[in-house]
Amino acid sequence: MEDKFEVLIEGLLEHQYGNADTFIGPELTASLRQQLESVYEAGIMKPAGIGQHFSYEKNLKIRGDLIYWLEKEHSAAEKAFLEHIEAFIDHLNRTCYTGINAYEFHFARYEAGSFYKRHLDQFKSDQGRKYSLVTYLNENWEPKDAGQLLLFSEANPVEIFPTGGRAVFFKSDEIEHEVKAGNRARMSIAGWLKRV
Ligand code: OGA
Ligand code: MN
Repeated sequence: MEDKFEVLIEGLLEHQYGNADTFIGPELTASLRQQLESVYEAGIMKPAGIGQHFSYEKNLKIRGDLIYWLEKEHSAAEKAFLEHIEAFIDHLNRTCYTGINAYEFHFARYEAGSFYKRHLDQFKSDQGRKYSLVTYLNENWEPKDAGQLLLFSEANPVEIFPTGGRAVFFKSDEIEHEVKAGNRARMSIAGWLKRV
């Protein structure tokens, strides 16, 4: 487990983002994907907002994902995922003195054609979000499916495909990024490690 955590941390220290191809294993990835699908089919995912006040039409020009916060009763899969996150936070705090003391995560689903324009994750009015961590849940994602995450680090922009099990980690106030439209539904858990 610690080696996956180190991959994320070393990448961030070396080139501003970490990418772990198997942050979570195939079984947990599949059960989280099933969980997301059942939440989606129940019709309880909501259009994501930008900032605190937004108009739906204006918002759609910027981001088109549906989200569901992992905050109510957790399924076994969600519990396993959040335990993994807590182990990562412990490791990060022990090795990097990051002082992370809170987190928030949501399921996200982008329909084919939906995107999220270039942005930073930290709000201007609330600097609690320190690190962004996105974990992908897609089965057999191929380059022709598009839907890349573009990270605008200091070097050239990097393109990352949302392959199931992969996690990407970067500073929420530092790295602008963008989600390109995909050709099929794109599923993930996006979240933030916070100091509050
Ligand atoms: C976000 C985000 C990236 C991705 O939810 O803020 O930028 O690849 N997600 O899904
Ligand atoms: Mn983002």
